[in-house]
Amino acid sequence: MWMRTIDWSDEKGCITIIDQTALPSKLVLLDIDHVNVLHEAILKLRVRGAPALGAAGGFGVALLARSIRANDFKDYIKKLTEGAESLKKVRPTAVNLSWGVDRVLAAALTGKDRAEVESTALREAKALADEDVAQCRAIGEHGAKLLESSDTVMTHCNAGRLACVDWGTALGVIRSAVEQGKDIKVISCETRPLNQGSRITCFELMDDRIPVTLITDSMAGHFMRAGKIQKVIVGADRIVEDAVFNKIGTYSHSVLAKAHGIPFYVAAPLSTFDFTRREKDVIIEERDPEELRRWNATQIAPAGVPVYNPAFDATPMQNVTAIITEQGILEPPISFARLKKSSSQKPY
Ligand code: MRU
Repeated sequence: MWMRTIDWSDEKGCITIIDQTALPSKLVLLDIDHVNVLHEAILKLRVRGAPALGAAGGFGVALLARSIRANDFKDYIKKLTEGAESLKKVRPTAVNLSWGVDRVLAAALTGKDRAEVESTALREAKALADEDVAQCRAIGEHGAKLLESSDTVMTHCNAGRLACVDWGTALGVIRSAVEQGKDIKVISCETRPLNQGSRITCFELMDDRIPVTLITDSMAGHFMRAGKIQKVIVGADRIVEDAVFNKIGTYSHSVLAKAHGIPFYVAAPLSTFDFTRREKDVIIEERDPEELRRWNATQIAPAGVPVYNPAFDATPMQNVTAIITEQGILEPPISFARLKKSSSQKPY
């Protein structure tokens, strides 16, 4: 039985994660008992993917609530709030991290004393993680209706159970369709530079015995033109009214899909929607240039060559056929005002 990507261990009193940097060669589990260790794990992508980052934010606040040293309750709340703010900044693009932190912090701050703050934070973080699993299942059920038996679906990056608490968003749709008996094949893009597609998506799907074939990112157009891809499904890190932010390379796939008349679907929970910003207001995380200059210890580009390394790009809403959420399938133009009202998610 598959374990959750991120969880809380009552026995050890800490966060437990699958260290995704070790995949696919090793399945390494990490105990995270200090918020500095969590910062490092998020930055190095040991835990990654928008919904998993939401859970990391929530459990991070629960961890902070237990570990802060303070002179009195006022000082404790000040340090908890500051620690939560700095956790939100570790990765700026995936909105779920801020959302998870803010949701659990807001609940924790209703506590009348330290013991109540600690217990409320942990209860809320656990609820958030459980809801994430239920939301992914609902996304899967809705999205599976869009897939037909014998479809080959292309995906980019990893929007599977390892990007969420369990099940997955884009891969959750595929899993649900397979569970319903549909014959679905997957083409997974490698997803340079950190290879979440080849390392993580291929690992997950092979583990589930769902047929998957690996291609490089630049092969997508070739296979679309050859009629080998019927649908594209990706996840999202942040959805604003005019664009979907996801792993770098997603935009190019959306343009190619449009040019070839292939439906381009985005699967994401409502916690990934940002009701307050537009594309121009979103910060795209720029990562370490060494991620492009090196492949682990091996140098693959001249030392010091200037590098652009944005982790995400924006796909304009015109390129999106539909967004699959836990509430159902939304086709652009999406009314954000109506969605915000119907969403049970508190705006972060
Ligand atoms: O940099 P990463 O690996 O955190 O990027 C992850 C993605 O871009 C995923 O596609 C996105 O978070 C959706 S996960 C369900």
